[in-house]
Formats: sequence, structure tokens, C-alpha cells
Amino acid sequence: MKNDTAMMQVNNLSYTYPKSKIQAVSNLGFEVRQGEIFGFLGPSGAGKSTTQKILIGLMGTYQGDISIMGKNLKYWAHSYYDHIGVCFELPNHYLKLSAVENLKFFSTFYNVPTRNPLELLKMVGLEEDAGKKVESFSKGMKMRLNFIRSLLHDPQVLFLDEPTSGLDPVNARNIKNIILEQKSKGKTIFLTTHNMHDADELCDRVAFIAEGKTSAIDSPKQLKLQNGKRTVRIEYSKNGVAEQKIYEMNGIGNNSEFLEILRNNHLISIHSEEATLDDVFIKVTGKRLNHQTDNN
Ligand SMILES: Nc1ncnc2c1ncn2[C@@H]1O[C@H](COP(=O)(O)OP(=O)(O)OP(=O)(O)O)[C@@H](O)[C@H]1O
Ligand SMILES: [Mg+2]
Repeated sequence: MKNDTAMMQVNNLSYTYPKSKIQAVSNLGFEVRQGEIFGFLGPSGAGKSTTQKILIGLMGTYQGDISIMGKNLKYWAHSYYDHIGVCFELPNHYLKLSAVENLKFFSTFYNVPTRNPLELLKMVGLEEDAGKKVESFSKGMKMRLNFIRSLLHDPQVLFLDEPTSGLDPVNARNIKNIILEQKSKGKTIFLTTHNMHDADELCDRVAFIAEGKTSAIDSPKQLKLQNGKRTVRIEYSKNGVAEQKIYEMNGIGNNSEFLEILRNNHLISIHSEEATLDDVFIKVTGKRLNHQTDNN
């Protein structure tokens, strides 16, 4: 269930790591609505994980105001962790314990009912590995275990820091489906990513973050419509020679050159092309998103 009730409100949030001279995040302001997937999209070092760590209560010395589920973060006691699920950027399991023992151990932290570990392991294809020590797990297996740990107590709010990072496409797809399923159950999800495809597909709204600052915040669709040009690429054969032209989509019905090509040549293909979130990110922030090659 999606509505406009704010689940999180962040105003003028700044944070400087001890011994650092520069702010890791600077004057952030955004709101996450109940039931939405809110993306924090930015390149490496932008401040995504720092923001998540602040929001989950790990950094006490921030400046600014944070309200989560209607309560100032500073006034939340330990019960906060019964309501939120966290997927950290790097897995931190007990390596000498098995996968199922890890999940059972983490279940003891909560004062609310927790889910059957085997059911969770099955969701990410780890049922056969439930009894194996985590030290024998591959990186992707540790990531999947890390992800389901955030779902153990069926929390209302999920904080997911790059949950598909380092996963093969099939496992990444599965994790994305689980994230969408959580949203369909009414959960609110704060998702950090450097992957524009994930942001585009999963997020209701996205905030761009670069060098500790957020700029545009809107739905991926609006961001692309407002900031990117849509084009039409046409390939045709003129006197037996293949040629290609690109035209802006706006006003194409009155573009005489385009219409003439349609009338007088043999068409080979015609494609519309939208701006990508990456194009928009560069336009708005002047920075590139990294790791453009990973498509998961
Ligand atoms: N423990 C730390 N001590 C000092 N500076 C830090 C620490 N952790 C992060 N930083 C700095 O804070 C800034 C933001 O880092 P952060 O980890 O939040 O980036 P990120 O957007 O999550 O990047 P990535 O995509 O690589 O995970 C960077 O300049 C980083 O060097
Ligand atoms: Mg990070």
C-alpha cells in the first residue's frame, strides 16, 4: 500500500567522519514515503553508505534532523531494530557458524516473532547450503545470506545497501523480485545503489547523490522526461546504400526531412530512444555513475 505519509524525513543532514576535514554528507534533505522504494543513486564515495549508517542509528554525531516512523531518530531506543531490517554493504557473518545457525543467532536480537530460517534460505537458493559453515561460502552466497538477514523479523522498513552488488544476473534478478514483493506487502524500502538499471526498474523515486550532496529527487520517469531528450533513430536504404539519422522525438510529425525519408526511401528500422538515468545524472550533477558495465 503506497501513500504519501512520510516514513522518514531528513532535514539539513551533515556528517563528518572523525579525523576527516571534509563532510562525507552535506546538508541532505529528503522524505521517504510509506510503501515506496526510495533510491539513493550515486557513484562510489558519494555518501550513500554513510547516509544509510546514519539512518540506522550507527552514527550519533550527525547534524540535522531525522524523523523515522514519526519519531526523532535520537529518541528511538533499541526497539527501533524490531521495525527496521538492514542489509549492510559488506556481509558480516559468524564464519564458524553455519548459515542456519547465523540466522538463528541473529533472530535472538529481536523482540518480535521471526521467520523460519529455512524458508528464507530457500528464497535465495541456499537451502542446500543451510548447514554449511559460512567460511566455505562464496562472495555471492554471503551476499544472499546477508540480504535475507534483513528479512528475518519481517520489518516494516528495509535499508538495503547495494543488495545486488557482486551477484550473477540470475541471483540479482531473484533479489530484485524479492524487493518488489516486499514493496507489494506495503514495506518501505531505502535502497542505495550505483546501478542506474536497478534504480530505474525498482524505485518509485530516486535521489541523485554526488560528493555528499543530493540534487534531483523524482521518479525515474519524470527525471528522464524533464532532463533527457527522447530521440528517434531511423535506418533506411537510399539508392541501395544504408543510411542512418537521429531526430528529436518532439515535433517529429512536422519534421519535413524525417517525413521525406519515410516517403521516399526503403525503411530498414526505426527505434525510439529514451534518455537513460545515467545521461540525466551527468546532466544534473556533472558526475558520472561508476561501474557502468555491471548490468545486474
Ligand atoms: N570510516 C570512514 N572514515 C573516514 N572517511 C570515510 C569513512 N567511510 C567513508 N568515508 C568517506 O566518506 C565518503 C562517503 O563514503 P561512503 O562509503 O558513504 O560512499 P558510498 O556512496 O557508499 O560509496 P560506494 O559506492 O563505494 O560504496 C567518501 O569520501 C569516503 O572516503
Ligand atoms: Mg557504499
